Amino acid sequence: MTASYRVPTRIETERLVLRTYVEADAEQLVEVVTRNLEHLRPYMEWIQFEPQTVADRREWIAGEAEKFAAGTGFTMGMFDADGVLVGGSGFHVRSDPDGLEIGYWIDAAHEGKGLVTEAAAALTLVALDTAGAAVVTIGHAPTNARSSAVPRRLGYRQRDLGGKQCFDAGEMAPAVEWVADASTLTSEPLASWPRPVVPASPRPTSR
Ligand SMILES: CC(C)(COP(=O)(O)OP(=O)(O)OC[C@H]1O[C@@H](n2cnc3c(N)ncnc32)[C@H](O)[C@@H]1OP(=O)(O)O)[C@@H](O)C(=O)NCCC(=O)NCCS
Repeated sequence: MTASYRVPTRIETERLVLRTYVEADAEQLVEVVTRNLEHLRPYMEWIQFEPQTVADRREWIAGEAEKFAAGTGFTMGMFDADGVLVGGSGFHVRSDPDGLEIGYWIDAAHEGKGLVTEAAAALTLVALDTAGAAVVTIGHAPTNARSSAVPRRLGYRQRDLGGKQCFDAGEMAPAVEWVADASTLTSEPLASWPRPVVPASPRPTSR
């Protein structure tokens, strides 16, 4: 059995808001993903199900909300300060090793600004500091140099965890895997990384 994690539904960084999708995000999600099909095609396995309609996306958002509530997957959108969707991220729950795995993609128009590194740093800190994960992993296809640079930049250690496959240009390939744990938080750059803000969840009101 996998562990249960306390993942917040909203995380704020210097330039981003990472939060669960709501139904009203469906239009933006369709627009951004459809505009990025060729950018995402080599490494995102779900691209085979694109393009989707707004109705498909609403259904998908509802499904992701159920997984979040059940603790089986923690998908989040990456929004800028104006609420514009710039990418997607969040955690997969993995069991070997027991921990959280960060995934990410970004709109090609926003590549190269450090936004993914900023999101991954915040997710790493939240996972290890508050969500209850002992390890956080990032895995990518061997040819995905831009993805590889993200965990490397954050002080993750490359580790052969054995067996995990990654989508690589239409085929599955052995993933390159990176791991962060408590020792990563006390090493640079995460030791002095700006702490993400996790707003308190609203209290349920009785009326
Ligand atoms: C993989 C992917 C998410 C990486 O995105 P990215 O934009 O390269 O990553 P970041 O947002 O962290 O940006 C890093 C770049 O911004 C630069 N940068 C600028 N300001 C920065 C800052 N404040 N902090 C860190 N980096 C900064 C870095 O130097 C780096 O530039 P370089 O690529 O010229 O070396 C993106 O290429 C993508 O969406 N690819 C398609 C989907 C995919 O492969 N997803 C991953 C599957 S495992």
